[in-house]
Amino acid sequence: MNMELWKQGAEAKIYKTNFYGRPCIVKERFTKSYRHPSLDKSLTAHRVKSEVRAMLRCRMNGIITPTVYFVNMDSSCIYMEEVQDSVTVKDYIKNVQGSKDLAEAIETLKPLAQAIGNTLGIMHKQNIVHGDLTTSNMLLQGKPSDCKLYLIDFGLSFFENMSEDKGVDLYVLERALLSTHPNTEELFNKVLEAYCKSNDTGSKEVVGKLEEVRMRGRKRTMVG
Ligand SMILES: Nc1ncnc2c1ncn2[C@@H]1O[C@H](COP(=O)(O)OP(=O)(O)OP(=O)(O)O)[C@@H](O)[C@H]1O
Ligand SMILES: [Mg+2]
Repeated sequence: MNMELWKQGAEAKIYKTNFYGRPCIVKERFTKSYRHPSLDKSLTAHRVKSEVRAMLRCRMNGIITPTVYFVNMDSSCIYMEEVQDSVTVKDYIKNVQGSKDLAEAIETLKPLAQAIGNTLGIMHKQNIVHGDLTTSNMLLQGKPSDCKLYLIDFGLSFFENMSEDKGVDLYVLERALLSTHPNTEELFNKVLEAYCKSNDTGSKEVVGKLEEVRMRGRKRTMVG
């Protein structure tokens, strides 16, 4: 199989290839030499399984994730649909912020914030906790007026109905958003608003937990 290395992260290499004629991404988790070999093996296998399981569970519930084509546990590879002509939410926000003034940028990004909140609300309602919600782990495909939001990178995900875990999930996103993109407080509020609408049963408790986690975060920085 002809595979071309496309991206290299801390934990995984991303290759482009095709799978029976379909554009395909191969995500290969590689060995970490500083970890004990057998621990490394089981941790890697756990990540691959968590990722595939969560992607399937999401798709069964109407959350858009790349289709999984094939999994090779021996080489720790996931073969999945390539989301073609997509940009990460990170690059999209950077582009919008770089080309418009502040108020205009926020107006432009509001539908995206709503889509993110809506998707995460559905995901948490199904007790899927993502574990690494950042703007690099979301892809946008299509025109801004009519686009699809894909969630990816579920290696740290787990299945849990505790509000605390969901609150931490949102906190990770809030930190990622505010630290990568300036002036996005209002957008995160939009995310939360949409989240509460789509996750009508449990969202109050989750937002309560989010506030607790924020307080703990602040205390930690004050202590140093
Ligand atoms: N199915 C896909 N289609 C298009 N682009 C993808 C796809 N999967 C990953 N990418 C691109 O590759 C980047 C890295 O992928 P991913 O986030 O899954 O790996 P990672 O961050 O290295 O993984 P990990 O956090 O497990 O170390 C993404 O930000 C995205 O730009
Ligand atoms: Mg990632």
